[in-house]
Amino acid sequence: MQYSLQANQTILDALSRQFFIFHQSLQARDVASKKLAQPTVSFPERGISFKQLDQLIETCIQPGLSASNGGRYWGFVTGGANPIATYADWLVTTFNQNVSKGGDSVATALEQQTLAWLCELFELPQTFGGTFTTGATAANLLAVITARQYAGKQQGIDVAKSGMKHVNVSIYSATPHASMIKSLGLAGLGQDSWQPIVCNNGEESMNIAALEAALNACNASSKIVIASAATVTGTDYDDFTAISKICKRYNAWLHVDAAFGIFERLITGKDGKTRGIEYADSITLDCHKWLNVPYDCGVFLTRHIPLLQASCEVAAPYLAGSENGIPFMSLGIENSRRFRAFPVWATLMGYGREGIRANIKANIEQAAILASWLDKSAKFDLVKRCELNVVLFKPNSAKLNLSSNECIAKLNASGQVFLTPGNWQGQPIIRAALSNWSISVEDVEKVIAILATL
Ligand SMILES: Cc1ncc(COP(=O)(O)O)c(C=O)c1O
Repeated sequence: MQYSLQANQTILDALSRQFFIFHQSLQARDVASKKLAQPTVSFPERGISFKQLDQLIETCIQPGLSASNGGRYWGFVTGGANPIATYADWLVTTFNQNVSKGGDSVATALEQQTLAWLCELFELPQTFGGTFTTGATAANLLAVITARQYAGKQQGIDVAKSGMKHVNVSIYSATPHASMIKSLGLAGLGQDSWQPIVCNNGEESMNIAALEAALNACNASSKIVIASAATVTGTDYDDFTAISKICKRYNAWLHVDAAFGIFERLITGKDGKTRGIEYADSITLDCHKWLNVPYDCGVFLTRHIPLLQASCEVAAPYLAGSENGIPFMSLGIENSRRFRAFPVWATLMGYGREGIRANIKANIEQAAILASWLDKSAKFDLVKRCELNVVLFKPNSAKLNLSSNECIAKLNASGQVFLTPGNWQGQPIIRAALSNWSISVEDVEKVIAILATL
């Protein structure tokens, strides 16, 4: 390698310059970049100098980046990288720990402490343990893998060793996130293996009587129920207390995908919309969403660590270690693992419960400002009452001769905001999801002004 440690000061100076250039441009740059072509450079036989590399990044890469780290990127459910987590993430690379086996670094204990603090933050019992993942999709995959191990155990089969061939299981859900369906496919159960339970009227939440009837009629030896907190479009929450009672009655595994919806617990507490989530067998959380840590960072929690471990552990002499606790490589997909708990630990320390709650509250209030304007506007219809951070709306066809997708294209082309489509009760709609710590009321007003010009 031609770069030495002596070059580190140069690298740090360049990093700080690139950081300021990017951050100072966040308000002004197009939220969705229009410069998407590959840089016109070819793979060099001999590496270029650091100075040339740094300049290339500044002139060719930075201009093509989106402002997804800023206050008006409202597509999908996108968090930003808060300043403390950004600093901690740089240190993660500097430290470059492999949080795999434990026994040689404090990093393992710190990941355990961070998981325990997340349980404390969300008022979940400390009987939950788990692991950091690359995101909610990977956490949902671990959920399916652990639930299928549970199903196998009920039938005297070790799925990790023998596979699913002889396991008989039925899966139920009302409005699973696409990543949940992807996970069913990845785990070999099949994307079409789940049976839909009807939703409550005008909502995406699960109808309890329909679930009870389905489980009662089910002949499969094992059952898995997948619930949502909250659904990605309607932000609807299932009734976890009622669902968990039914699951207990039928010995069914209950997984709750709470990727971003768990953060609502900081506002209304454990008797609010997430009431009863603590009875789940497993829960998915996503820190790169509403905790605003950098990608990629999700969490899988379960009260059945031995089942997760049985699913992920492989004995190999060269991997034998001296660790006392559970080795994280045996609780997830990757053997070698980034120290991705660290930016979360730093965020929890740096903001505290109060600071994190304030961010969530601010986003909910900002979404309410947008929803209230849309509700009064002649050009747009608010299609669902906004109760969290996602606003659903569509053009009023009598006043605006544009489809939802045409509106999105125009708005995104303005470079002032980035929105993504959705579907509400069979009709195409526009979704605005506000999850970034740096969103200001001025950002919301700016977007409202642009909506008004359509
Ligand atoms: C409810 C829910 N589950 C899972 C995911 C997938 O998350 P990720 O992209 O972090 O894998 C999302 C993303 O929006 C989500 O909203």
